Amino acid sequence: MSGTIVIEKIQGPDVSEEMIAQAAELFSSDYGIWGPLAEEKMGTFGKFCKPGHPVKMSKNRLREQSLAPGTDSILVRATVDGNLVGHTFATFWDYEGRRIGWITQLCVSRDFRRNGLATKILSHLRENKHDHSFGILSSHPATIRAALRAFGHGIEKVDLSGIKELVPAIMDSSPVPYVKMAKPTGSLFDQGDHTGAVCCADTAFWVDHAEPLAALNVIKEDGIKWPFGDLPDGCEFLAFVSRSSVT
Ligand SMILES: CC(C)(COP(=O)(O)OP(=O)(O)OC[C@H]1O[C@@H](n2cnc3c(N)ncnc32)[C@H](O)[C@@H]1OP(=O)(O)O)[C@@H](O)C(=O)NCCC(=O)NCCS
Repeated sequence: MSGTIVIEKIQGPDVSEEMIAQAAELFSSDYGIWGPLAEEKMGTFGKFCKPGHPVKMSKNRLREQSLAPGTDSILVRATVDGNLVGHTFATFWDYEGRRIGWITQLCVSRDFRRNGLATKILSHLRENKHDHSFGILSSHPATIRAALRAFGHGIEKVDLSGIKELVPAIMDSSPVPYVKMAKPTGSLFDQGDHTGAVCCADTAFWVDHAEPLAALNVIKEDGIKWPFGDLPDGCEFLAFVSRSSVT
């Protein structure tokens, strides 16, 4: 990792075609690979989801998912010498007097990982938004840790107690279809759930879990408590840092 990292924050309508193309390219090369069940679970799209092949994202799909017209969305990107090395997209909306920010994508180039870049990129979303609540869905524990560090007080001080009542309704009110359709799952939401999941959501995203689970093992070996439980196939961990502008 070398060169000066430049971080920019760009409002949705100002995100250029080139910026979208760079983000789609970074995602398609460095995000992850399809898991063993992807092809059979994805129905007619299965032929595009061959196990072991990279999860790819087109420019159009990325714009549709993360910068949908009429939404208050934003891109934060990190570049080195003009080359994209990390990005996040977030969409904001109001829910019963609260301003919600939801991270719809976060990806850091493999060459730049484990240096605090994801945390730094997310921290730029937080700037001047101390009364906003933030949510994220991800299969990667490092994404969850980065969000908890940027918006809260880190994995060490995470508090899931308020999530059960509040977050399913917030997700249901989301203008982002992927968030709205996600089904909160795990023992936090259903005491009869015996999958080992505690605070996850079923997003029907069949990405391979080998890399995220290796990261989870590192966390456990480091003696860090992981309160979100296990990660069932097709699910993602669900994190939410709550702040209310009305209380
Ligand atoms: C997840 C991702 C965004 C992390 O980016 P990053 O710049 O390396 O993250 P940071 O350096 O800011 O680290 C954030 C936190 O996660 C921890 N972390 C980072 N990588 C980790 C790993 N591989 N294993 C365990 N912990 C890890 C850091 O120690 C830090 O924790 P702390 O602040 O609680 O101490 C990056 O790995 C990525 O883009 N991955 C692919 C995207 C994805 O989510 N894929 C899912 C399918 S594989």
